[in-house]
Amino acid sequence: MKFAGKVAIVTGASRGIGKATALGFAREGADVVVAARTESPEQYSLSGTIHQTADEIRALGRRALAVRTDVTKEDSVEEMVRLTLEQFGRIDVLVNNAAVAFYSKVAETPAKRWDLVTNVNLRGTFLCSRAALPAMMKQESGSIVNISSYAADRNGPIYIGLAYCVAKAAIERFTNALADEVLDHSIAVNAIKPRGEVDTEGMRYWNPDADFSRWDKAEDFMVRGILFLGSQTAAGVTGQVFVDEDLCRIYRL
Ligand SMILES: NC(=O)c1ccc[n+]([C@@H]2O[C@H](COP(=O)([O-])OP(=O)(O)OC[C@H]3O[C@@H](n4cnc5c(N)ncnc54)[C@H](OP(=O)(O)O)[C@@H]3O)[C@@H](O)[C@H]2O)c1
Repeated sequence: MKFAGKVAIVTGASRGIGKATALGFAREGADVVVAARTESPEQYSLSGTIHQTADEIRALGRRALAVRTDVTKEDSVEEMVRLTLEQFGRIDVLVNNAAVAFYSKVAETPAKRWDLVTNVNLRGTFLCSRAALPAMMKQESGSIVNISSYAADRNGPIYIGLAYCVAKAAIERFTNALADEVLDHSIAVNAIKPRGEVDTEGMRYWNPDADFSRWDKAEDFMVRGILFLGSQTAAGVTGQVFVDEDLCRIYRL
């Protein structure tokens, strides 16, 4: 068990890649903090709650802490980290996975949607990293894994909205610059993105007519890649942005 005795925080773990990642850490022995907004099935049209994920982690024999968290809000993020340290005493891995996207062209994008998308993706990544870093620095170890997208740098028609694209591009720059900042504390900071579509509740919602059988499952590459990056320190792989399939091939995951 690669993460026995370790503590991982996964944002956006009520469903999708975040939930699969949280369960992946638990299977490898970690205690896991499940941070997202949905607490009950009635709250949102998409399935999945933080408590359901936490229950599945406990069923694997690990400790789980479900914390209602809005990653765009400073107070909420600080409280999530405070509760993590109160319950588990340390933070070994932070996965900045929470995201939203809206499919619209710039000319048709209301400013409040632009703000929401950039806030959840980019501000959330900043706020959660800033909140987790003091504990990691005190430990002189830790790993931050940011989730990007092919939307950050793929040319051609963009169907996902430019707010999402530029937020993910900024996350990649944040990743390699932050890695330099925390190098001396033995903390790794990396990013990973899927090679294409991954079958999740969020993606099915936006693409109801797609052929889901052609999409990757989170467990195919993303979870394996995130766990590998979560095990790094600054002495290993840091400051890098990987496509999930490439990472799995290079390191034979
Ligand atoms: N699936 C793909 O094909 C694909 C492709 C490229 C990149 N990605 C990236 O992979 C990651 C996961 O994607 P996914 O498809 O699994 O997404 P998803 O199914 O839509 O799940 C998104 C998660 O983010 C959480 N979230 C949204 N707003 C939040 C907020 N303000 N505070 C806290 N949590 C929030 C949601 O939880 P609540 O609603 O409960 O808060 C949910 O758990 C994202 O970073 C995404 O950009 C996915």
